[in-house]
Amino acid sequence: MDDGGDIQEKILFGKYEFGKLLGYGAFAKVYHAKNLRTGQSVAIKVISKQKVLERGLTEHVKREISIMRQLRHHPHIVRLYEVLATKAKIYLLLEFAKGGELLAEVNKAGRFSEDLSRKYFQQLISALRYCHSRGVFHRDLKLENLLLDENSDLKVTDFGISAVTDQIQPDGLLHTFCGTPAYLAPEILARKGYDGPKVDIWSCGIILYAMNAGYLPFNDPNLYLKIYKGEFRCPDWTSPELKRFLSRLLDSSPITRITIDQIINDPWFRKGCKNIPTVSDVDLFGHEDCDENRKHHLNAFDIISFSYGLDLSGLLSPPNCFFEVERFVSAESPERIIEEVVKAEEGRMTVVRRKDLGVKVEGPNGEIVFTVDIHRLTEELVIVEIRRRGNENGPQIRTLIYKPE
Ligand code: ADE
Repeated sequence: MDDGGDIQEKILFGKYEFGKLLGYGAFAKVYHAKNLRTGQSVAIKVISKQKVLERGLTEHVKREISIMRQLRHHPHIVRLYEVLATKAKIYLLLEFAKGGELLAEVNKAGRFSEDLSRKYFQQLISALRYCHSRGVFHRDLKLENLLLDENSDLKVTDFGISAVTDQIQPDGLLHTFCGTPAYLAPEILARKGYDGPKVDIWSCGIILYAMNAGYLPFNDPNLYLKIYKGEFRCPDWTSPELKRFLSRLLDSSPITRITIDQIINDPWFRKGCKNIPTVSDVDLFGHEDCDENRKHHLNAFDIISFSYGLDLSGLLSPPNCFFEVERFVSAESPERIIEEVVKAEEGRMTVVRRKDLGVKVEGPNGEIVFTVDIHRLTEELVIVEIRRRGNENGPQIRTLIYKPE
């Protein structure tokens, strides 16, 4: 395996076996890996803490993790399962999209039919609507960041340069110049400040054009001038409805450019989909309610994500102690959890109940073997935190941020 020295062990934390390199960026590489116990395939994004710190990208990484966590319940967004860290690396355990990049599929096919383009475009818009309604703008939508799963369904990935609403400046706009040249909206090139949703919609227009044509609309030396003017020609096989729709997506003025609500009511977009509800329906494609179904979970994980012990700054600074900490959410009562610990350790160790919700488990010489702390999250849920002294020579598992369901 060529890992450029990034992977010290072929097996991560005794749990995941690294496979082939799937892709790489400036400070991260993505590998295929297998969960040794379940056989499940995952993608692991390995982030070098040193490179992140050197490049001042700490906030970027924290933002990417927090965004992926917020967006983890949409069927067309690559899911973040777990975050692990050692002294030198952060590992994002991600859903594995077996079908690879949509770009490779378009290249292989030459171009897609309008029906196939529509299917992927609908899935993309469903994901995007979900992001925007949660105040997240992707800012780097392109064919390389759209993956396919084993059923040929779309999965949006790489929220590495995404923005959230709290980055909006007092003028109501975003100002960071970022993205991939051929997918950049004219207002970003003009460096005027831009509206997050409108820039993502422009990139979706480029993606739709490329699926239908087999090439990008603005891909020549006069690229920037053409983008500014919004000048593009559709290939002859494009239907009049799609041409009209593309001209609304690739409108060089963000003010008149189509909105997501208008997209999902467009005749080309809706063609053949009798059951797609209108925008007035809350559950576009039946996905919008998925957070509602999982409210119980979401609350719990959101509280964990931002609670004291899981401050992500800890992931990026060198460890000063070698505790192995495991945290998980439970619906059992604290009393029941404590009773279980007492039952399990009785006769072998001394279990000392503390005044607050927790126990200290001591060895024969009074040394602390591990502690259990229970924190109430909601009326029904608690976080159980098990802390044991780690082995300085062994794998330094500092933080197990959360467990997959
Ligand atoms: N390449 C980058 N991320 C990936 C993922 N989650 N699944 C498959 N290939 C990928």
